[in-house]
Amino acid sequence: MKDTFKDDINSGLSADKKSLPSKYFYDKIGDALFVKIMNLPEYYLTRAEFDIFKNQTHDIIDALKIKPDTYFELIELGAGDGTKTKELLKVLSNKNYAFQYVPIDISLNSLEQLDSRLSVELPTVKVAKKQGDYFRVLESLKKSQHPKVVLFLGSNIGNLTDVEAERFIINLSEALNTNDKVLLGVDLIKPAHIVLPAYNDSVGVTKAFNFNLLHRINSELDANFNIDQFSHTPEYSETTGIAKSYIVSDKDQNVTIGALNKTFQFKAGEKIHTETSRKYNDAVLASILKNSALSITAKLLDSKKYFADYILEKS
Ligand code: AVI
Repeated sequence: MKDTFKDDINSGLSADKKSLPSKYFYDKIGDALFVKIMNLPEYYLTRAEFDIFKNQTHDIIDALKIKPDTYFELIELGAGDGTKTKELLKVLSNKNYAFQYVPIDISLNSLEQLDSRLSVELPTVKVAKKQGDYFRVLESLKKSQHPKVVLFLGSNIGNLTDVEAERFIINLSEALNTNDKVLLGVDLIKPAHIVLPAYNDSVGVTKAFNFNLLHRINSELDANFNIDQFSHTPEYSETTGIAKSYIVSDKDQNVTIGALNKTFQFKAGEKIHTETSRKYNDAVLASILKNSALSITAKLLDSKKYFADYILEKS
């Protein structure tokens, strides 16, 4: 892990247009900051999707075309704390649906926490947690002929570029059987005055989340980023629907990364791209799905129409 981190940081900062991979936000500190982000008044995404799961649970179940007596696997990619999913699990379990919940996450710690919470709050739900890379786990689940519903929530797909998202969807589709479903949660394209504050909150939690990357490079790779000499600068285009977060150098400066034995130069105003948060609409999603065997069969919106949960079906 450490060598991949080192190599990724080296190639990102050596490029003409500097960048750092957003996956490195998520260490222990980054995970805790993301929980804070989800509770910020400006960060509408989590509340909007929760609204769908809480108030349209029966519509979700209808759209998934699942029957109470047909056993199925409810698989969640990157389950997190399961707050939204619990709303669905509650109804499925109260109505005696025959299913097993399979949360998949790279973090064993977060899976164990989720498992122990569910065993107290929803003791009748069968939970089979799987730790590891999504696709390796999905590949292993492919052998089972039970119908599958895969949840990929929170607009996590938005952190991929369109090319990466297309590849992701093809891999996902290949791991499924005919008639299996995907419930894909995406943030919708909307005006900048709503999107931008979600990535630039007034108390600076998102800035701390973004700068956690620099703290990690300082402490794990023996670097000397002077955090006070950089700014957090998100941008959003209403035309493309793409939000991007940057760390911008406030002045001409050099940063040495001890573990790489290398010094990097930053010009005043030079940007490091740290995250893409793509927003969707039907056309964007259709183009991401076009080379896969998945197609849209339903779409559920929150009361403000900020967020969509699309139901996709494998042909
Ligand atoms: C996890 N992901 C969908 C979040 C997003 O909205 O792109 C990560 C995030 N970055 C800044 N705030 C939240």
